[in-house]
Amino acid sequence: MSEKTTNTPVLDVFIPYGKQYIDEDDIEAVSKALRNPYLTTGPEVDAFERALCQETHAKFAVVVSSGTAALHAACAAIGIKPGDEVITTPITFAASANCILYCGGIPVFADIDSETWNIDPKEIRRKITKKTRAVIAVDFTGQAVQIDEIRQICKENDIYFIEDAAHALGTKYKGHPVGSLADLTTFSFHPVKTITCGEGGAITTNDEELYRKLKLFRSHDITRDPSQLTQCPYNGYNEQIGLGFNYRMTDFQAALGISQLKKLSVFSSRRKEIVDYYNKEFSKIAQLTIQKEIDASDTTRHLYIIRLRQDLLKVGRSEIFKALNKENIGLQVHYAPVYYHPYYQKLGYEKGICPIAESLYEEIITIPLFYSLTNSDIENIVRGIRKVIEQYSA
Ligand SMILES: Cc1ncc(COP(=O)(O)O)c(C=O)c1O
Repeated sequence: MSEKTTNTPVLDVFIPYGKQYIDEDDIEAVSKALRNPYLTTGPEVDAFERALCQETHAKFAVVVSSGTAALHAACAAIGIKPGDEVITTPITFAASANCILYCGGIPVFADIDSETWNIDPKEIRRKITKKTRAVIAVDFTGQAVQIDEIRQICKENDIYFIEDAAHALGTKYKGHPVGSLADLTTFSFHPVKTITCGEGGAITTNDEELYRKLKLFRSHDITRDPSQLTQCPYNGYNEQIGLGFNYRMTDFQAALGISQLKKLSVFSSRRKEIVDYYNKEFSKIAQLTIQKEIDASDTTRHLYIIRLRQDLLKVGRSEIFKALNKENIGLQVHYAPVYYHPYYQKLGYEKGICPIAESLYEEIITIPLFYSLTNSDIENIVRGIRKVIEQYSA
């Protein structure tokens, strides 16, 4: 029977679109941390922050409980307040915009570039008003945004540049690691990301004042620093000087983060190999488009997305999605434009704001990309995709 008609899946077992890689060194590092007197915010947290500074070349790093907490802390540190507008991309996880709402700000969505799928600097310019206080640009799938252009726009308009690099740890822009190029850069260590702490996040910055604010915000805005206290009745006395949160990371999560970070270059190389293979194979398939990379970005890819061309769209993405699932290929869609979510619709955002993002959303499917995929896995994934496309192009 030909591959076209067989009902046997190309892959024997289901492969998810993303997955963590934990080895014995990671387990040992966590076990060791659990035997320490500190269970939370102890020496491992400090060491993880130092390791992140080394990796990103940033002067300061603050680790927190998630990438979402990192974004919230970043918005709070720059003082986003009710009525402030912050420009971001619609093609992202909701947290990139929710953090603006947490501070009472107004998310303003700027459309993406039709080929790189990252926020388009021209669209950022178009959306700037007197109320704009910041840009949150997302390194979508791991590819760096056009950092120089965005930095220039922010400088001209005296607004902050937050880079949401949840997807992009390990990525370099013009030879510099992301993490020290925007005013604030945020990371996520959720299990599908390039390195994981279970849950976790970080903010990096070169600005000492922002760093101090981030550290306070992570722990209720409570200080013991004598220079900040208004009264000083006894040793160990503390005062709450703002409205912070408990966004602390535990020491055993930080120990996992340190151990994972040691493998970043190995993780990164393997992800690049897989991306190169996919790019080569999918470039040969006329019914697919792949994401364009800018020369400036040396990307550690978090997600791999295929875009369906017109003849496949006639079949419908959900039909293709179901057929690929039957081949045991795990899939996702990253992302529906944030303002499509019912919560945002209730806030008054209407469809049509960002037409390029909206048409991208209708046409994309995320396929498996993670460190431990074998060569035979990726060959079979490509075979499965070819098989389904041939089925529907017949
Ligand atoms: C672009 C982006 N920003 C922020 C986040 C939030 O990170 P976390 O899940 O660690 O809260 C995610 C999570 O997937 C993300 O993809």
